[in-house]
Amino acid sequence: MQSPYKAVKVTEDVWWVGAIDWNIREFHGYQTRRGSTYNAYLVMADKITLIDTVKAPFQGEMLARIADVVDPERIDYIVSNHSEMDHSGCLPEVIAVVKPEKVFASQVGARTLRELFPSETLEITAVKDGENLSLGNRTLAFLETRMVHWPDSMFAYLKEEELLFSQDAFGMHYASLERFDDQVDPAILAFEAATYYANIILPYSPLVLKLLEKVAAAGLTFKVVAPDHGPIWRRDIGGILSSYAKWGAQEPTAKGVVVYGTMWHSTEMMARAISEGLSAGGLDVKLMSMEQVHRSDVIYELLCAGALAVGSATLNNQVLPGMADILTYLKGLKPKNLVGAAFGSYGWSGEAVGQIEAVLAEMKVESAGEGIRVKNVPDAATLTRCYELGLKMAEKVKGRL
Ligand code: FEO
Repeated sequence: MQSPYKAVKVTEDVWWVGAIDWNIREFHGYQTRRGSTYNAYLVMADKITLIDTVKAPFQGEMLARIADVVDPERIDYIVSNHSEMDHSGCLPEVIAVVKPEKVFASQVGARTLRELFPSETLEITAVKDGENLSLGNRTLAFLETRMVHWPDSMFAYLKEEELLFSQDAFGMHYASLERFDDQVDPAILAFEAATYYANIILPYSPLVLKLLEKVAAAGLTFKVVAPDHGPIWRRDIGGILSSYAKWGAQEPTAKGVVVYGTMWHSTEMMARAISEGLSAGGLDVKLMSMEQVHRSDVIYELLCAGALAVGSATLNNQVLPGMADILTYLKGLKPKNLVGAAFGSYGWSGEAVGQIEAVLAEMKVESAGEGIRVKNVPDAATLTRCYELGLKMAEKVKGRL
């Protein structure tokens, strides 16, 4: 019986031979509600070349898609643009099947792959930034993209077809049988690309900006951008590049995010009063209870926001567990250019507000004023202070626009 897994033609000589993970919902703390794909590409040049592989359980699906085009044993080269296991998990097994002449990775990538598979004897040829690899009638140029997404990451550019294999960059977690951006609802593309950037790429934003400069300086032009996750860009390449420039710069906008955890609604009342103040001050507002939303949605809303207010009740001398979770997540993702404040209610000790302020300071969030703590239930005067704190935050944000 023939395999149902087919390759998808990308250009004259390039085929998508990846795998679709319809069921994944969790990616290192990032909720991937629409699943994902692990994209691998086959370049049918004189030297037949496989670009990246897939997560280990999907090896069979990838090999079946390759076999739809060519006997996998005819592959000459494998290029590993990124060694994270969603792209390398089956690499040792694929090498055993394909027996390629050579496997290429960046210098850091070669070392990382050996470390990830210590029981294997992997022969990896390290390539340098700017190095060309002749595939006979085609040429691949390598461009190091350190920390986008790991230290080993690199791009491979197929010169004759102006096709960029961009590994994690410009990707999104979106499982579909549609392979190209022009086949997907633009609203889904916009939401999932931004969510992916916010949850994965955001901390490396300064490097994204440098990378975009490097690409421009190299004079590279793209007819196709083929990432390792989600749709392949062939229609709106300018759009995704300019989105990365915007998200990388993290210019603040007139938007405020209020995140809170409450026990008996007191902190919630404060959150709502602050939200009203932010809105009256002219900001768009997202009010997010950590009992109701996922951390991935909070960082999506914070991408290019101008203000962040964080509130928590105090539980056993600490912030609530859900607030510890989101604060840890935000601290790691390092959103920039925010004005912030802390607030919360307490019964007797009330440490939460101070703990939130400490994290906001570590994140270099500019304080809009002293945090507001209230014992038990906020009275009208306290709610007015919360409203005024929202107004003050909005004023500070608008001063930055
Ligand atoms: Fe898709 Fe950094 O791995």
